[in-house]
Amino acid sequence: MFSSISLFASATVLLSTTIFASPISSHYERDASASPVNWGSTPSGGLTEVQKLNYVLLLESAHSALYSQAVKNYSDYDFVNAGLRDLYTDAESIATLTAANVKTIDSAISSSGEAVPGACTFNWGGVEGAFGWALFAEQFEALLVSTYKGLLPTLTSAPHISFIQSLLSESTANSATLRTDTNLAPTANYAPLTLGESGTLFRPFVAYCPATNPAIDITTHPTISFSANALSPLTVGKTITLTPVDAEPTNDITGAVLNTVAVNGAPLDFAVKPDGKGGWTGRVPVGVQPGLNYVVLSSAMLGTGEAGLIAGPAIMEIAA
Ligand SMILES: *[C@@H]1O[C@H](CO)[C@@H](O)[C@H](O)[C@H]1NC(C)=O
Repeated sequence: MFSSISLFASATVLLSTTIFASPISSHYERDASASPVNWGSTPSGGLTEVQKLNYVLLLESAHSALYSQAVKNYSDYDFVNAGLRDLYTDAESIATLTAANVKTIDSAISSSGEAVPGACTFNWGGVEGAFGWALFAEQFEALLVSTYKGLLPTLTSAPHISFIQSLLSESTANSATLRTDTNLAPTANYAPLTLGESGTLFRPFVAYCPATNPAIDITTHPTISFSANALSPLTVGKTITLTPVDAEPTNDITGAVLNTVAVNGAPLDFAVKPDGKGGWTGRVPVGVQPGLNYVVLSSAMLGTGEAGLIAGPAIMEIAA
């Protein structure tokens, strides 16, 4: 929590500039699709349980690296100075917990009779300063929450289900803490993501994996960079431009879908028009929930759900 008026004011300024070019989305502008991981395409029958665990291992290794690096790169003083009073101690305990999670996944993979993939390294692009780290970490936790929500109904092994449930509760708690600390609107409920949507958001953060690791058989999508036309928090009615970063140019885009957990639980469709520069412009639709939302560009011609997805998701923070 912010301890003084002046810290609150400087944090607000930081937020108003990061809210559009949210830490995760802004990463894509620098590093559109670079990733040394061998991403495969999802087999028609879906991934095996061990292939799913291999992906969870990659996510939790990144999760662990994000916190263990934070407690090395920043001091308790840096966090306190950024208005994040208890975050250093929290980050230390999350670093320990996530390192233990990585070991648990390693043993789950080897007890299924498969080789444990070698350790990967990660890069976080433009994450700078203790406050910037906290904003980025919040989005990373949200990505994990949404991934595990989407993954849970596809699992069959009881021990795997209860383990992923525990990862889901940990990330939900971390996300809530970070949102409070950074003064973001609370998010009641994160929408679930498919593995393809999750991989699309996660892909740019993998810096290196041993070539002997099995491919991650997840079909990912082109990413989206987005901008808004005014430097004030993103709210209903604001104009936004969504630009596919690494996609073939297409005229098939018919709309955008804000994957929000709305009152009726349904994603919100809204119209977008080409801006003539490769981007698609629309307005944040009525009914969107404050907090973190995902947005995708879609084509009704190609079908509903992931079949109609042309680019994304991207993360969009909606102010209360
Ligand atoms: C920590 O610092 C190293 C060295 O500058 C950098 O490569 C890494 O991305 C930083 N990690 C985080 C989480 O800030």
